[in-house]
Formats: sequence, C-alpha cells, structure tokens
Amino acid sequence: MPEFFISEKPYTLTQDKIMQKPTAKPNNPKFSSGPCAKRPGWSVNVLEDAWLGRSHRAGGGKKKLKEVIDRHVDILGLPEGYRCAIVPASDTGAVEMAMWNLLGARGVDMLGWESFGLDWCKDVTDQLKLDDVNIHKADYGKIVDLSKVDTDRDVVFTWNGTTSGVKVPNADWIKDDRKGLTICDATSAVFAYDLPWEKLDVVTWSWQKVLGSEAAHGMLVLSPRAVERLETFTPDRPLPKIFRLMNKGKLIDGAFVGETLNTPSMLAAEDCLDALKWVESIGGLKATIKRSDDNLKAVSDWVAKTDWVEFLAEDKDTISSTSICLKITDPWFEQKSEEDRQAFVKGMVKLLEAENAAYDIAGYRAAPAGIRIWGGATVDPADTQALMPWVDWAYNEAKAQEAKQAA
Ligand SMILES: Cc1ncc(COP(=O)(O)O)c(C=O)c1O
Repeated sequence: MPEFFISEKPYTLTQDKIMQKPTAKPNNPKFSSGPCAKRPGWSVNVLEDAWLGRSHRAGGGKKKLKEVIDRHVDILGLPEGYRCAIVPASDTGAVEMAMWNLLGARGVDMLGWESFGLDWCKDVTDQLKLDDVNIHKADYGKIVDLSKVDTDRDVVFTWNGTTSGVKVPNADWIKDDRKGLTICDATSAVFAYDLPWEKLDVVTWSWQKVLGSEAAHGMLVLSPRAVERLETFTPDRPLPKIFRLMNKGKLIDGAFVGETLNTPSMLAAEDCLDALKWVESIGGLKATIKRSDDNLKAVSDWVAKTDWVEFLAEDKDTISSTSICLKITDPWFEQKSEEDRQAFVKGMVKLLEAENAAYDIAGYRAAPAGIRIWGGATVDPADTQALMPWVDWAYNEAKAQEAKQAA
C-alpha cells in the first residue's frame, strides 16, 4: 500500500503536468457531509440564551421547542394540515418511527440506491419482516426505475442519497390521488430543494445537515393522510415508548407543539434556532436553495474542464447539490483494485487536510472510492470555488508521489 507524505516543494513534477499549489484557500475548509459546516459567522456565543439546567417542560423550555417547530413550518411553507414534530434519535429515529408506526396496512415498495435507503430496505425485510414488499434497488451512481413504483402501495424512499450523490429528479411518479403513503427520508434535501410537500406524506430530516446545526433530534412531518393512518391502523408489533405517537387511540398532540416524547438537548435546540434565524436573515428557503445550487455549479464548472473526474451520478437530472459525489475516471486509477483506489483517495484527502484546504471529503466508506463534497447552504460557494483547484492539486500530487515510490 503506498505511503503518502507532504512535499515541502511548491510544485510537483508529474509525468504530464506541473501542478502548482493553488494560492487561495477556502476560508472554511469544512466540507463534511454530516455533521456539516456551521453557518457563516457562527460562534459558541449563539448558545448564550439556551434554556439550560431547567425542565424542558417548564414554560420557557416548551416555548423554545415550539419555536423550533414554528420556524421550520414557516420557512419551509408546509401545507395546511401538515403536522411537524421534534423526535428522538436524529433522522434515523424519525424514519424508523414512521416505518414502525405506519407500515403493514398495505403492501410496500422500498427504494434503495445507496447506503441509507438500502438500510431502510433491510429494516423492512429483516426487522419488520413484512409480507408484501417490493424492493427496487440500483447501484451507486444510478437510480431505480421510478416508473415501476406503485404509489397505491406505501413507498419508502430517500430524496437525496447522501452516499452516492443521487437525488430523485422530480416527484412526477407520485400520483396525486395515490392510495399509499409516501415516506421520504429527506435529511440531505430539506432546505436545499423545493420539496413538493403535497406528494409527500411523511418527511424526515435532522438538524446537522443543510442547517449545519447540532445532531441530536429528528424532524418528522406528517400529512393529514399519514395522521389518518395512525388513527385507523394499529400495527401488529410491539412499539418502544420512544416510537409511540399514539396514546389510547389518539395522536399525541403535544408532540407537535414542542412537548417532546422524552428529554431533548436544549443546547442543540438553541443551536437549531440560531440556524433557522440565519436562514431567515439571508432570505429564507429560496436563499438556501440558491447557495446549494451555486455550490453545485462551482463543482460542475470544474468537472467540465478536468479530465480525470466525473460525477458519480450517471444521469445529470439526478446530480445532488448537497452531497456532491465524484468518481475518478483516469484509466490509470480505474485499473486499480477497489482497496488500492480507497487507499489513493485516503492519500489525497490526507494531503488536503494537512494543507487545511479541505476536511472530510473522501466518499462514504461503503461507496465506490471517490470524493464527496458537501454543498449545503452553510457552505459558502466562494469556498467551494476555491477548493476545486486544491482537489486537482491533491490528485496530481498523490499520483506523482505514488509514481515516485514505484520508481
Ligand atoms: C439519507 C440519510 N438518511 C439517514 C441518515 C442518518 O442520519 P442521522 O445520523 O441523522 O440519523 C443519513 C446520514 O448521513 C443520511 O444521509
């Protein structure tokens, strides 16, 4: 396995290219896909007003939690009748709470084209062990054939696959008069895309993604039809207290006004409020979507003029603007084993980290070896622009070092 080291030299001589170190660096080198960068200007001082050391059920605590919900509802423009709650265990908690409460009333179509969606498929087959399940799967970089999905059945899918950088191109495949429920893991999508809420019956996300807030809790949105399902269907399975949205046959209304099912982190809630106020201050949802689009544009412009790289997403309509995944297409790289590819990318990422040019941009561990750059709203598009020459430099530097070692 090649060893990588940082060169003291200002440039590297490769077989075909002299690659100088770029001069400008991103102001913020944080491009991780979760937890994601804090919003510009963030400091711990924003937590000063946190409701700490007091009961979250006292007036002030409840008010803060309700404010988190209300600001989400306003910024995202949730339709009338949709309910929104803060739930335990981040996005995973919210998705699994939805599946355990709602599935089983009718057949279900499960969609998976990257790590998390595939986990939800496993939940349904190995844990819930439902009888009538159609699994639609696609490899990293591809998406399932959405025309084969039957929305008269329940459907579980991920809007934006964080580990492959593949998003659904649209919601045209979801019928307006569907009989099933659409359960959408939108953790890397909310605040980055204009979601068609009327087509979605359950939507989940967490605070540490596009908001760049602290991880801890999940957000769960239910359409009136999802609420109706809860009120008319009792699943034939035990539900832990932490998942229960119903009490004595009735929806626990308090959960939708800040009376959380168990104790939340009020420090995380304060941080989330700060992120939401920042979103409002820059112009709301339109502005966060634009920042994400601009990040994708910065990467796309660079991909277009760079000969060794392509998007992992094969269809351009499915390229994510949040988790932007790239593959190395240089034949020299493609002939390597997957293990050697991963080692090479690790070397590139190490070079970038040592230069403080970028942190955490290796692809997900279960995805094909490549680069993943977070382009959510808290990342400044100017930083993404400044990053790209560094990725080029790291690629050529790592390649040159490998050639030197082999010589
Ligand atoms: C699409 C998707 N679903 C679920 C998760 C899990 O999220 P959490 O760690 O907030 O539970 C992630 C995390 O990156 C994700 O990208």
